[in-house]
Amino acid sequence: MGNYEPLGLKPAMGWNSWNTFTWDIHEQLIREVADRFVSEGYKEAGYEYIVIDDCWSLKERDAGGNLVADPAKFPGGMKAVADYIHSKGLKFGMYSCVGTHTCAGYPGSFEHEFQDAARFAEWGIDFLKYDYCFKPRHISGELLYKRMSLALKNCGRDILFSACNWGEDGVYNWIRESGAHMYRSTGDIRDNWESVKSLALSQLGKQCYTGSFCHNDMDMLVVGMYGGSNSDFIGRIGGCSDTQYKTHFSLWSLMGSPLMIGCDIRKDNPITKQILQNPHLIAINQDLEARGAYRIKPEPQWFHTDDVFMLVKVLTDGDLAIGFFNLSDSQRELSLQFWDLGLPYAAGFSLSLFDCWAEQELGVFRERYAPVVAAHDCLVVRAKLVR
Ligand code: GAL
Repeated sequence: MGNYEPLGLKPAMGWNSWNTFTWDIHEQLIREVADRFVSEGYKEAGYEYIVIDDCWSLKERDAGGNLVADPAKFPGGMKAVADYIHSKGLKFGMYSCVGTHTCAGYPGSFEHEFQDAARFAEWGIDFLKYDYCFKPRHISGELLYKRMSLALKNCGRDILFSACNWGEDGVYNWIRESGAHMYRSTGDIRDNWESVKSLALSQLGKQCYTGSFCHNDMDMLVVGMYGGSNSDFIGRIGGCSDTQYKTHFSLWSLMGSPLMIGCDIRKDNPITKQILQNPHLIAINQDLEARGAYRIKPEPQWFHTDDVFMLVKVLTDGDLAIGFFNLSDSQRELSLQFWDLGLPYAAGFSLSLFDCWAEQELGVFRERYAPVVAAHDCLVVRAKLVR
């Protein structure tokens, strides 16, 4: 096996065209994103997949029933796009749908699964996002994901399978068995705080359903969009504050979601880059054992609402990643008793805390730690047991 890393071992990292560009995608944009991955440190930070979402094809298949890339958007064809992305040492992703049509009304892969998988392999893709619109009602989504999974696993190329059924139809109960490497557990994200908050809260109780080879995908990141979508639905105006984007990235990192950038990284500012490329947060997200995070309510518990909590992720080397999240609208003190981590005072250990955003040591603490966290903000620490 040498250096071979199996597909889906860790949450995928990359960029997806949908949040910012929706239908307005073309070859030049994709090339520029690939260039930017290399020149601005995204590749170095671990981002790998460049994914073209919906709206890339013609509205009709050809006479042979094949999908056809829209020549106005991709004049050189998909193989050329793939070659370019590969020449940068990156990977290429595309999009289709379990139904007869994609959500935007382009041909879906229903009853064409094996044919389309062969075509994707010919083009040289490495990732397929597979949506859930226009699904015939007489057939289960579970079976349709199994179909495409089987088709991809037998198309002669390693293609990461990204299921996208928005958490519907009890997906948690069957998606791992289907062979998908990641699965969307939520409806579409929007570029505003309410959306980020509600998606995160909706998945707090679902952390037992994520892990290696089948990661819970909480949707693409809106970090750095600042209302820059061309779609009113996703959020053409408004956006979030940098603090909110930082909290969003921290939640997705700790909760083990794939990290798929959704902003126009050709126009990123230094703060966006700092957030998306934070090496400590990325290391937590990419930790080899890929454990879900557990939630602790701050003490005194009766005092706190459900949008104030700690998330703890057990890391491979014995450290703990701990996020203190205040999603409420006013400042809070979040008291963590180390007892709740499985570390009683009598064990004789203290925790040495490293602040992953400020990139500095906070000191050594015994028994408890109680930071004050501003509204919508968070503190993420890496905690090491020390005597
Ligand atoms: C939605 C999906 C989005 C995007 C869109 C394309 O169903 O959740 O992420 O892919 O379709 O039409």
